[in-house]
Amino acid sequence: MTQTSTSRQKEMAWLNLPCLSVPVKALFTGYILVVGLGLLMAGAQILLTHGMADGKFGISVDDIVYSYYGNRNGSKIEAKLNGSMKDKAPPVERLTIIKWARNGANKQEWQAKIKPIVMKRCAMCHAHIPTLPNITKYEVISKLAEVDHGASITSLTRISHIHLFGISFIFFFIGFIFSMAVGFNKWVKAGLIIFPFLFLITDVASWWLTKWDPNFAWLVIIGGTGYSLAATVMLFTSLYQMWIYPLRHQHLCPEVNTWKED
Ligand code: HEC
Repeated sequence: MTQTSTSRQKEMAWLNLPCLSVPVKALFTGYILVVGLGLLMAGAQILLTHGMADGKFGISVDDIVYSYYGNRNGSKIEAKLNGSMKDKAPPVERLTIIKWARNGANKQEWQAKIKPIVMKRCAMCHAHIPTLPNITKYEVISKLAEVDHGASITSLTRISHIHLFGISFIFFFIGFIFSMAVGFNKWVKAGLIIFPFLFLITDVASWWLTKWDPNFAWLVIIGGTGYSLAATVMLFTSLYQMWIYPLRHQHLCPEVNTWKED
C-alpha cells in the first residue's frame, strides 16, 4: 500500500456506526424507531385482516389461501349455512338457498322462493343487527352467494406495486445504516442486506402464485417472515452499535472504514 492510500484509509476510519457523530446517530435512530413501529403495525394489520380470513385468530396457510386463492368450493352463504348458520333453518330450506346460490343467485327466483325463507328465518337478526349484512336485500345476499375467487387481479396489481416501491425504500435505508456496522463477516453482512429484497420479491411473487395455485401459500409465509427477521436483526444491531457499543468500549471508537473493501 502506498503512503497516500494508507493515510486516506486512516482518514475514513471513523466510517462505522459506533464512531458516527451524535447528530447523525439521532437521524438514524429517529428513522429506525419510526420504521420499527411501522413494521409492528404492518404485522398487526396482517393478523387482523389476513389472520382472520379463516375465522380463527393467527396467520395460517388457510388464511393465505382464502385471501389470495379464495374458497372456490362454494359461496360464503353456502359455507355459513353448513357452518354457524346451520341451526337457523330446517334442512329443506337451507338446501333451497344453497341450490339457488350455486345456480347463480337468480333474481326472479329470489323474489319467488328465497326471499320468503330469508324473511321468515334470517331477517330477525340480519335485518336488525347493524353489524350483520342485511341479507333481506338482493344486492347484499347475491354478493354472499358468489363463489369467492380471492383477491382480484386489479387489487393484486395495486398492492404489488405499492409494496415493491414502498418497502424497497424502507429496506434501502435499513441496509444503508446497517452497512456501517462493525464486527460482521462481509458475506454475512451482505447477506443480511440483500435478503430482505429477495424475500420481498418472493413474497409478492408468491401472492400471484397462490392466486393461481393454493399450494404456494407457504411461500407467502416464508417471504414475509424472512424479511421481517432480517430487518429486525439489522435494526437492533444498528441501535446497539450506535448507543451501547461506545459505552462498553470507553467511548473509543473502532478504527474501521466499513465502506472500504479490505
Ligand atoms: C339468531 C340470529 C341469526 C339468525 C336467525 C341468522 N343469523 Fe346469520 N349471522 C348471525 C351472526 C351473529 C353472524 C356473525 C357470526 C358468524 O359469522 O357466525 C351471522 C353471519 C352470517 C353470515 C356471514 C356474513 C358475513 O359477511 O360474514 C351469513 C352468510 C349468514 N349469517 C346467513 C344467514 C342465513 C341465510 C340465515 C337464515 C337461514 C341466518 N344467517 C340467520 C346471526 C343470525
